[in-house]
Amino acid sequence: MDLFFEIARLKKEKNAVLLAHYYQEPDIQDIADFVGDSLELARAAQKTTADLIVFAGVHFMAEGAKILNPSRKVVLPDMRAGCSLSDSCPPEAFARFRALHPDHFVISYINCSAAIKAQSDVICTSSNAVKIVERVTREFGPDRPIIFAPDRNLGAYVAKQTGKKIGSQMLLWQGTCIVHETFSEKKIAALKLEHPEAELIAHPECEATLLEKSDFVGSTSALLKYVMESSKKTFIVATEEGILHQMRKKAPEKLLIPAPPNANCACNECPFMKLNTLEKIHLCLRDEAPEMIMDEELRKKALLPLQRMLDWSN
Ligand code: 13P
Ligand code: SF4
Repeated sequence: MDLFFEIARLKKEKNAVLLAHYYQEPDIQDIADFVGDSLELARAAQKTTADLIVFAGVHFMAEGAKILNPSRKVVLPDMRAGCSLSDSCPPEAFARFRALHPDHFVISYINCSAAIKAQSDVICTSSNAVKIVERVTREFGPDRPIIFAPDRNLGAYVAKQTGKKIGSQMLLWQGTCIVHETFSEKKIAALKLEHPEAELIAHPECEATLLEKSDFVGSTSALLKYVMESSKKTFIVATEEGILHQMRKKAPEKLLIPAPPNANCACNECPFMKLNTLEKIHLCLRDEAPEMIMDEELRKKALLPLQRMLDWSN
């Protein structure tokens, strides 16, 4: 069977849209109707008029699409496509943490479950996190303390950018991304010796010591834009490898070197994102399953901070 043909045929027949994150395998990115970072995908999911949303990403992303556009059927090619950050923040433990700090304003990174979103005052993504913290400070005053969850690296980066003191002004939940924690600074230093002209560019989910050495820090879309617009020719890219596909397509003249992980493995590929395959996309289009089903009360609670983020970032 020609999977590419069948997927295109089913998409048309079912008025379906295929949304894909930059960390999907190249073939999936190439057949998607829209490829983007978390913020762009949330906006696309909310705007779409398609009857069926096929989300080639991870669970919290498909759940986000359902929260924002509940009248559409949302399917995820593999329901096991989770996220280490999301898993690091169980709802009961987070509720206990919040109860200890009732005066704190809760900002949650979009990489969390609906149950965490429902306990948050506003959501952010890696592309608007600094702006969201600045907005909270403007709206509620500089003395309002903040809980930032679940990514401690993004939280620490945002605290640094906004001048907030970790502890007294911003409490960080101690979650991390298994992919962005994996890069070896020793191997990156060796690469820099081999390519002294190379710029190191990194996603803010990476550890602080790596971010401090980076020439540019940004979300997946921001990293892509930086490579396209920079006059530099060589980049060491410290994020999930999937983004290199778009970088190679949009800036073919640039030399892109994936930042090496500590172990000798493909650890800079997200094992959750990579659970999605063309075969599973075909099956989930054909069967309209597995479907994202949500409790309506939870959906409505999770929508408030998500919508607030979208309103604040327009
Ligand atoms: P962005 O695409 O928003 O940069 O997020 C990266 C990520 O880790 C998604 O899971
Ligand atoms: Fe989660 Fe990291 Fe995978 Fe993104 S790359 S889905 S943050 S584990």
